[in-house]
Amino acid sequence: MIGLRVGVLVSGSGSNLQSILDAERAGRLGPATVVLVLSNRPGVLAIERARVAGVEVEVIDHRAFAGDRASFERALVERLLAVRVDLVVLAGFMRLLGKSFLEAFPGRVVNIHPALLPAFPGVDGQGQALRYGAKIAGCTVHFVDEGTDSGPVIAQAAVPVLDDDDEKALAARILAQEHRVLPRVIRWIAEGRVVREGRRVRIVGLGVSAGSHLRSPEPEDEA
Ligand code: GRF
Repeated sequence: MIGLRVGVLVSGSGSNLQSILDAERAGRLGPATVVLVLSNRPGVLAIERARVAGVEVEVIDHRAFAGDRASFERALVERLLAVRVDLVVLAGFMRLLGKSFLEAFPGRVVNIHPALLPAFPGVDGQGQALRYGAKIAGCTVHFVDEGTDSGPVIAQAAVPVLDDDDEKALAARILAQEHRVLPRVIRWIAEGRVVREGRRVRIVGLGVSAGSHLRSPEPEDEA
């Protein structure tokens, strides 16, 4: 069986990338394989993580394109198509992607955002939640459209905001959930269980919604 070929785009520490690579190694990514990691920033830890895992990794520095977003996106698309990527995962990728990129992978780009969308899109979702005074925060995996964090939601996980939280503590609690949710969504997509009906996304054969489900322990978590 030919698996889903995944390209992961990163910009920073790459802990989400690591959770995907760990899941793949542990056989928890279903029929999905990470075939390429692309970073828009040189020297970030994510690059090292890909190397250690033996995954092909390349830097396409957006600064080299002097503000020409279309050319930057063309370079990304070319590289991803060259290795026949089926699914693009934005894992801490800090650039907005426009029409030309999304048209190359229609309905096949997903992003992880550290807030419960539609609340707190854009940068610093964790800090936004804290400053707003929200009592529940969390993360969202969603399909990417041309807006900022505005595409259809695939899965979410919630965490409490504690009275003595600072941004660092809250971000760490959310990040732990990101590491659970993102590999799981990739597996669901690879298994063909993610069905999109307009804005609503169903996970076939899950039995419960991909919100509540993600908070409860599963056999695979204990493995
Ligand atoms: C994560 O919180 C992600 O949701 C956000 O940036 C952070 C990146 O973390 N967009 P990492 O690079 O995966 O460690």
